[in-house]
Amino acid sequence: MKGLILAAGRGTRLRPLTHTRPKPVIRVAGRPILHYAVENLLQAGIREVGVVVSPETHKDIAESLRHFPKPFRPTYILQEEPQGLAHAVQVAQGWLGETPFVLYLGDNLFQRGIQDFLAPFQKGVSAVIALAEVEDPRQFGVAVVEDGRVRRLLEKPQNPPSRLAVAGVYVFTPEVHEVIATLKPSARGEYEITDAIQALVDQGKTVLGVQVQGWWKDTGRPEDLLDANRLLLEALEPRLEGEVTGSRLVGRVVVEKGASVRNSTLIGPVHVAEGARVEEAYLGPFTSVGPYAVVRKAEVEYAILEDEAQVEEVHVRLQESILGVKAEVRGKNGLPRTHRLILGDLSRAELA
Ligand code: DAU
Repeated sequence: MKGLILAAGRGTRLRPLTHTRPKPVIRVAGRPILHYAVENLLQAGIREVGVVVSPETHKDIAESLRHFPKPFRPTYILQEEPQGLAHAVQVAQGWLGETPFVLYLGDNLFQRGIQDFLAPFQKGVSAVIALAEVEDPRQFGVAVVEDGRVRRLLEKPQNPPSRLAVAGVYVFTPEVHEVIATLKPSARGEYEITDAIQALVDQGKTVLGVQVQGWWKDTGRPEDLLDANRLLLEALEPRLEGEVTGSRLVGRVVVEKGASVRNSTLIGPVHVAEGARVEEAYLGPFTSVGPYAVVRKAEVEYAILEDEAQVEEVHVRLQESILGVKAEVRGKNGLPRTHRLILGDLSRAELA
């Protein structure tokens, strides 16, 4: 069994955060989204992992995976244009060969990993897809399932026939390559993996739908990132390896090696990454402070600060905010209440 992670998309819904970097390298709870996908594949015993990248995302994705904390050597596969999930699989066909594989969308997060979808993948089964019941399935692939078997699949339908959304993990036999070769582009101009699976169903092949246990997140929009950050921080194991002085830490707080927290109040769950500096600050629940970020004389809550972001002397509380790499927020006294900011990498806001 091989693993194929897709990381070649444009991530348009997450702009400005994805203007400069691909979505899978954005950190939630201190780790790039992509690292969770790799972790889940390794945990499932899958050692051969291919990562589909685009000319724009290749460098950032490879750089992020270079910092994966365990020995891990992926194979990079270039998709010149993001022409759809099925197209990405087609581009990887040479590397996949005749091996069954797990297709893993690089911007998806699963609380309980992927074991639940691998177990039912037995002889006679052509594909297993992960499904999750959602409030509004119109932004997802949607499945109609009878007795565990997928009967119909639609991509982002206006009138969904069920509330079962297709979550971003699929297990395939090499049969899928044959149907992908016959696909035509969809109305939105992409080669859809949902169409490939529908073709398997139409040929009478067994496609199983397995419901996701625990939570699942497609990190499509900024609010999804903040929610994913919250869900992951919920499971944080407290750990203080950095330097903490004159501060009050309440609940589950992690301060990584090389980070410093001085004269501050941290109400967990809070993650402070390596090299970050927190001084005379308040960090409220569900905040992740990225590597070498600085929070000084400021209040931040329910937020993600990426690598080297800076929030200094902002005398209002930043809430539900995401600051990209090296983004800066500086302020003066006397500003009103709470601010909600989504700032891309290298941006700068002066609250005056
Ligand atoms: O997240 C689950 C949903 O993912 C499913 O419910 C849908 O059926 C499925 O089509 C997909 O929809 P999205 O619109 O969310 O897909 P997105 O374009 O965001 O791409 C998902 C990942 O695949 C993302 O990490 C980028 C990557 N990708 C995407 C395309 C279109 C590629 O590597 N190559 C591509 O050509």
